[in-house]
Amino acid sequence: MYNSKITGLGFYVPENVVTNHDLSKFMDTNDEWIQERTGIKERRWIKEGSGDSTSVMGAKAARTALERSGLKKEEIDFIVFATLSPDMYFPGGGVEVQELLGMDTIGALDVRNQCSGFVYAMSVADQFIKTGMYKNILVIGSENHSGGLDKTTRGRNVSVIFGDGAGAVVLSRTEDSNKGILSTHLHSEGKHAKELVLEGPSTARWVPEILANNDPNDVSYYPYMNGQFVFKHAVTRFSEAIIEGLEKNNLEASDIDLLVPHQANLRIAQFIQRKFKLNDDQVYNNIMNYGNTTAASVVIALSEAWGKDRIKDGDLVVLAAFGSGFTWGSVFIRW
Ligand code: UT7
Repeated sequence: MYNSKITGLGFYVPENVVTNHDLSKFMDTNDEWIQERTGIKERRWIKEGSGDSTSVMGAKAARTALERSGLKKEEIDFIVFATLSPDMYFPGGGVEVQELLGMDTIGALDVRNQCSGFVYAMSVADQFIKTGMYKNILVIGSENHSGGLDKTTRGRNVSVIFGDGAGAVVLSRTEDSNKGILSTHLHSEGKHAKELVLEGPSTARWVPEILANNDPNDVSYYPYMNGQFVFKHAVTRFSEAIIEGLEKNNLEASDIDLLVPHQANLRIAQFIQRKFKLNDDQVYNNIMNYGNTTAASVVIALSEAWGKDRIKDGDLVVLAAFGSGFTWGSVFIRW
């Protein structure tokens, strides 16, 4: 029986820092509101002409993860790429990363699970390794939000929250059953699909239809979020996903060495921290510096935490996420 463990991590964020004060220059918002409600101080947004895109950032993060794994690109068997903001409507970003990294004709799969994207992607990769089909898989989360946000006051409840960036891990086969991914837990509840959504362009809201309507109030091509509704569900579902993993592995919350929650809102992470009676050393947050980077957020935080020596050999690391779909889940890892 094979197990899968992380052998390399990396992340990349665009250089361009956008502070809350910067945002207040082009929309009616302010640093106090953003920090008080979300904890965010600044985020990175791709600068036009920089050459960065969802796939390019994903490839940059993947290069670092690959280098740290000590593996050659020829040893990677498969790519799983999570994003809600692919460079193109189709094909997805996985194939672009395969090309950018100059990899052989290995398979590349895109995961469309928004903020839970990286958790879902890890679960998919874990199954491929556990069945023995693949040995080394690149798992990437990357988002270019800034290219598609409503940066006027109309869109402020969404646009101040989201940032750009990418993270990646190499997941590799191990025969040590005490190390690596212990379990993954995935859930969805499609009845709330429209509470956090970008409706068009899509086959249901095609571009010509949006243009023909010429309706200035039609903003279906910008993300919509019912913030308080999403918040309430997030705190419940985050908790459930963590409890499910603890029960499955006969563990207590106090056994968690590091919880890496999806960086949706610092208030959500703090609520979870209090609920499970975790101290500050047991939770990693970086939303202050990067905002919410959706499918990239958990892996950027994981990679950054590892880089700051917040994770030791043998630690119990828990990844948990909730987002659009609704989708949510967790990954339990013995490091
Ligand atoms: O990552 C996927 C999962 N996402 C989440 O989990 C996000 C969950 N939701 C949230 O984090 C919060 O609901 C938000 C941070 C999005 C919003 O915070 P809130 O406390 O729920 O605020 P609200 O939407 O109820 O808005 C309160 C007020 C409104 O004004 P009035 O109607 O009270 O006069 C908004 O118009 O704040 C106003 N507002 C803003 N003011 C300044 C909304 N956005 C802004 C803004 N700057 N950016």
